[in-house]
Amino acid sequence: MPVASQSPTKAVTIERFIVEQERLLPHATGDLSDILYDIALAAKMISSKVRRAGLSDILGAAGNENVQGEMQQKLDVIANEIMVQALEAGGRLCAMASEEEAEIIPIPPSFRTGKYVVVFDPLDGSSNIDVNVPVGTIFSVLAKRQSAPHGELGDFLQPGHQQVAAGYVIYGSSTMLVYTTGQGAHGFTLDPSIGEFLLSHPHIRTPSAGKFLSVNDSYEALWSEPVKSLMRRYRGLEGGHKAKNVRYVGSLVADFHRNLLAGGVFCYPPNAKSPKGKLRLLYEGNPMAFIVEQAGGAAIDGERRLLSIEPTELHQRAPLYIGSRDDVALAAEVLGMTGALA
Ligand code: AHG
Ligand code: MN
Ligand code: MN
Repeated sequence: MPVASQSPTKAVTIERFIVEQERLLPHATGDLSDILYDIALAAKMISSKVRRAGLSDILGAAGNENVQGEMQQKLDVIANEIMVQALEAGGRLCAMASEEEAEIIPIPPSFRTGKYVVVFDPLDGSSNIDVNVPVGTIFSVLAKRQSAPHGELGDFLQPGHQQVAAGYVIYGSSTMLVYTTGQGAHGFTLDPSIGEFLLSHPHIRTPSAGKFLSVNDSYEALWSEPVKSLMRRYRGLEGGHKAKNVRYVGSLVADFHRNLLAGGVFCYPPNAKSPKGKLRLLYEGNPMAFIVEQAGGAAIDGERRLLSIEPTELHQRAPLYIGSRDDVALAAEVLGMTGALA
């Protein structure tokens, strides 16, 4: 699809881009577009909170633990509330789910229900909030598949290749929203002076091999031998591979976004303490995997394509090797994966 020119007078807003993309789908009803508008609004609201967090006593812990057993930060709770309130009234969803809530979130009876569900990580990288390191929001949209009018757990437990849309927001040096509906991955930068997300990165393509490796190697002693060998190869210490620069921020959104644009691989391997790693499949791994495949990259759990995993629990974790295709292919080879990357 021809992308409108980027001259200032012809800036393409996310709303216009969503409509143009909707026109490419003959059977589109506009429901998915409305969900994406609502998420873009929530992103602007969360961005505003994140950027003033240090001035409005919303840094630090909220004082309670989430279902993951992790200390919730005040901004985790605020971002979660913003996402729920932005999405519950639109009449397009039959339920939602969030990293911050143990069970699925029903649509209040005063609102109509629709044919989609959204699952999200309202604030990714929470441990970085108080030290002003980029954080993000991650979301995944699925079509309901149960017959009941109100969403059920089964509507969420679908393999990632069933996603109809996925995206993330990064609250970094600028606020960017990157999303896909299966027609490429596209990036929008928030212009705070007009409060609009403007198309800045149409049709993102990730380099086939990257210069960055993102991994938390404080777990090295707990990794399997194949994982240790893979990391030595990425570092150019084994197998004659070119050494990669190690960059690890501790926010998946920030590490993923840098590698998506510049090329590289993010790894969260299983370790002896966490046999499935740390990252959650439904609202961290799968949305990022959808985006990276749309940009020409790949994502695996070490045994299979990530988007082929059949989920059994809402908050289940999965090991993650994601990014430039050749770098993920090396992981598949060293870890003994037999199936196709994508
Ligand atoms: P969240 O803040 O939503 O819980 O996510 C944090 C995740 C992810 O953003 C990041 O890549 C990872 O935790 C970092 O984990 P380690 O501190 O174990 O490296
Ligand atoms: Mn997260
Ligand atoms: Mn989170």
